[in-house]
Amino acid sequence: MKLRFLYLILFCIFSHGFSQNYEAKVDSIMNLMTLQEKIGQTVMYGGHWDQTGPVVGTDNRKYIREGNMGAMLNAMSVKGTRDLQKIAVEESRLGIPLLFGYDVIHGHRTIFPINLGLSASWDLKMVEESSRIAAEEASAEGLHWTFAPMIDVSREPRWGRISEGAGEDVYLNNEMAKAYIIGFQGDDLSKPNTILACAKHYVAYGAAQAGRDYHTVNIGEGELRNVYLPPFKAAVDAGVETFMSAFNELNGVPTSGNKFTLRDILRDEWKFDGFVVSDYTSINEMIKHGFAKDSTDTARIAMNAGVDMDMMGHVYRLHLKKLVEEGKVSGGYINDACKRILLAKYKLGLFDDPYRYIDKNRENTTKYKPEFLAKAREIAAASSVLLQNKNDALPLSKDSKKIAFIGPLVKDEYDIIGNWAAKGDRKGKAVSIFEGISEYLNPYQMLYAKGCKILGEDESGLEEAVSISKQAEEIVLVMGEGHHMSGEAASRTNLRIPGVQTNLIKRIREANPNKKIILVLMNGRPLNLSAEVDLVDAILEVWFPGTMGGAATADLLFGKVNPSGKLTVTFPRNVGQVPIYYNMKNTGRPIPDYNPKEDYKSNYIDVPNTPLFAFGHGLSYTDFRYSGLVLSSKDLSFSNSITASVEVSNTGNYDGHEIVQLYIHDKVGSTTRPVKELKGFRKIFLKKGETKTVTFTISVEDLKFYNSEMAYGVETGEFEIAITPSSEFKFKHIFNLID
Ligand code: NOJ
Repeated sequence: MKLRFLYLILFCIFSHGFSQNYEAKVDSIMNLMTLQEKIGQTVMYGGHWDQTGPVVGTDNRKYIREGNMGAMLNAMSVKGTRDLQKIAVEESRLGIPLLFGYDVIHGHRTIFPINLGLSASWDLKMVEESSRIAAEEASAEGLHWTFAPMIDVSREPRWGRISEGAGEDVYLNNEMAKAYIIGFQGDDLSKPNTILACAKHYVAYGAAQAGRDYHTVNIGEGELRNVYLPPFKAAVDAGVETFMSAFNELNGVPTSGNKFTLRDILRDEWKFDGFVVSDYTSINEMIKHGFAKDSTDTARIAMNAGVDMDMMGHVYRLHLKKLVEEGKVSGGYINDACKRILLAKYKLGLFDDPYRYIDKNRENTTKYKPEFLAKAREIAAASSVLLQNKNDALPLSKDSKKIAFIGPLVKDEYDIIGNWAAKGDRKGKAVSIFEGISEYLNPYQMLYAKGCKILGEDESGLEEAVSISKQAEEIVLVMGEGHHMSGEAASRTNLRIPGVQTNLIKRIREANPNKKIILVLMNGRPLNLSAEVDLVDAILEVWFPGTMGGAATADLLFGKVNPSGKLTVTFPRNVGQVPIYYNMKNTGRPIPDYNPKEDYKSNYIDVPNTPLFAFGHGLSYTDFRYSGLVLSSKDLSFSNSITASVEVSNTGNYDGHEIVQLYIHDKVGSTTRPVKELKGFRKIFLKKGETKTVTFTISVEDLKFYNSEMAYGVETGEFEIAITPSSEFKFKHIFNLID
C-alpha cells in the first residue's frame, strides 16, 4: 500500500466521531507534514480558462504532486477540477485536497447587476439572494471559494473598481458586506452548495490617489479606522472565512506587507481566525513599490506581516523554507498559516470527501435555472435608479404609436453583464434592452438605430439615427460605457459619457425639440451628466444590469415595476469636484445658505459645491411624503436607547417601494465629525394612498467613532438627526447624549 493512502485512512479514522473538532484533526495532519509540505499549502497557482475547461501547465501538475500547492485559481468545471483534485488526492504524499478559487463577483452564470448597482437596491435580502445563487452555480462547477465581496469604501469615480463595491458610505458597506458573506457561505460550509467568501481588498484600496488603479494611499489612522476599516470588521463579525491583502501601499507600507493592518488589527484586535491570501502577485510587487530588495525579501516580509497564502507569486514556494531555516521567518507563522488553510478545507468537508463539489448532475442542472433568472430580473429592476423624470416622462405607454430606440447599447448582450462577469455568457444568453422591450411593444412600433459606437470619434451613423428619431413619437436612448471601462485597471480622468454619444443626443434633441427623450444609461461609475440633464427628459441609470437586464429595464420603462433604487455614490457636476461625497467635513469656512457666492468661503468660483445627483437620491413614479420627525426623548443616555419615527405616505398614483434613510450629525467632537452620517435605512412598500410609520432605534453604539487618540467611543453633547428620502436635506431636530 502506498504511504499516501495510509495517511488518507488515518485522516478518515481521525475524522470519525470528531466532526466538530476541526483543530484536532488538522493538528493530526500537520504532525505528518514536512516544512515544505506546510509551505505548499500556502501556495496558490492558477491556470487560465479556455472554451473547454481549465488550462493548467505541467508545472502546476508537478507542484500538486509534490505537495507544493494548496489552492488553484481559475480552475473549474467538474471535469477540470476532478482531474486536478485526483492528482492532489492520489498522487501527492499526503493526499491533501486542493481548494479551487475564482472571482464570482456579481453572479457566476446568472449575472446580477454590477455590485455598485446591487448596492443601489439598498436591499440586503436581495444582495444575499444574489450571492446565494452565485454560490449555487459556482459550487456546481467545482468551486470552493470566491474572491468576494469587495468592500472597499470609495469616493473616487475615476477609479474603475468603484463598480465592484457598495459605494461611498461606511454603514452601507458594512451591511452589504454581511449580506454577501451570508449568501456565499450560508450557515454550514460543509454543504456542497456553500463557498468560502473573501473580504477584499484589505485595505484602503478605494482611496487610490487621483483614482488611478493600484496607486498610493496616504490617509491618517483616524480616516483609516473610521472609514476604510469598518466594513472589514463587519466581515469578520459576519464570519467571513478569508481576507485578501491589497495591491496598494498604505502610508508607505504595502498592504501585502503591512504588519500593522494584518497582524495588529486583523489578528490581535479583531481576532480573525481565517486565512489571508495576497492579491495576484501583490507580494512580488513590493519590489517595485521599493519596499523589498528581491523576491526572497518579499516572501519574508509578507509572511512575517501575516499573509498566509501567496496568490500566483511563486515566492512562498521558492523561499520560505530557507527563510525559516535561517531564522528570518518563524516556523510558527508557517504552522499558523498552514493550519488556517487546512481548517478551511475541513470546514468545506474536503477531508471527508475531496470530490464533494464535483458532481456532474449538479453541474448540468444548476446553471441558469428559471428561478435564478426570475430573481435576476427582479434584482436588476430594484438596482436601477431613476435619476430624473421631468414632467413624468416615464413610464412609457404601450399604446405609443412608435418609439425609436437609439444608441450603441440598445441591442447589446455583451457589455450588459458588466465587468467581472465570471462565467456569464456574453453571447446568446443575456436579454438585451431591445429584446426586453419586445415583450411590451409590437415589432412595427419599435424603430432602431445604433447611431455610433461607445468609443471613438466616428459620427457617420448620426444622420441615420436622427432621421429614425424623427419617425417616432418618443425616443429612448441606450448609451453609456463599455464593460471594460470600469473594473480593474480601468480608471478614467474624464467622467463624461464617452465617444460621440452626447453629440448624438444633442442632434436628436435639435431635430425633436418637443418629443419625450429618455436616456437609459449603462455604466460602472458615477458619470458627469451635466450636459445630458438639460437635453433629455428622463434618465434611468441601470448600471450594467446583468443577464436579465434588458427585461428588467423594460419592466421599469413601461411601469410594470416602479423604480426604487437610490444612489450609493455621489454623481458630481464635473470631475474637478472629485472627491465629492455626502459626508464630508464642514471646514472652518462653509458656504452660508443665504449667499453661496460669498468670498473667502470653501467653494468654487465656477460650479456650486453641491453634486449633480446626491448620495441617496432616486425617484419613483409615485410621490412619498414624510411627516415631521418624532423622538421618544430628546435625551439619550449610555444605558438607554431612544427612537426616532416618521410617517411616510404614498401620495402619488402608483404603488411603490421607498428607501427611508436615517442620518445624524455629531455637532462637536474632539475630532471633527462629518456633516452627515447614515446610521440606518429601511426599504418599505406602500400601496398608493397608504401611510406607514418607520421607526429607528438609536443607541450609544451608533454614535461611536475613533478619536484622535484612536480610542473608540462616544462623546456627550448635541446631535442632529433626520429621517429623509436622500442625503440632500437640512437637519431640523436635535437630541443630546448625556452622562
Ligand atoms: C486581482 C484583483 O485585484 C482581485 O480582485 C482578484 O480577486 C484577483 N486578481 C484574482 O483574480
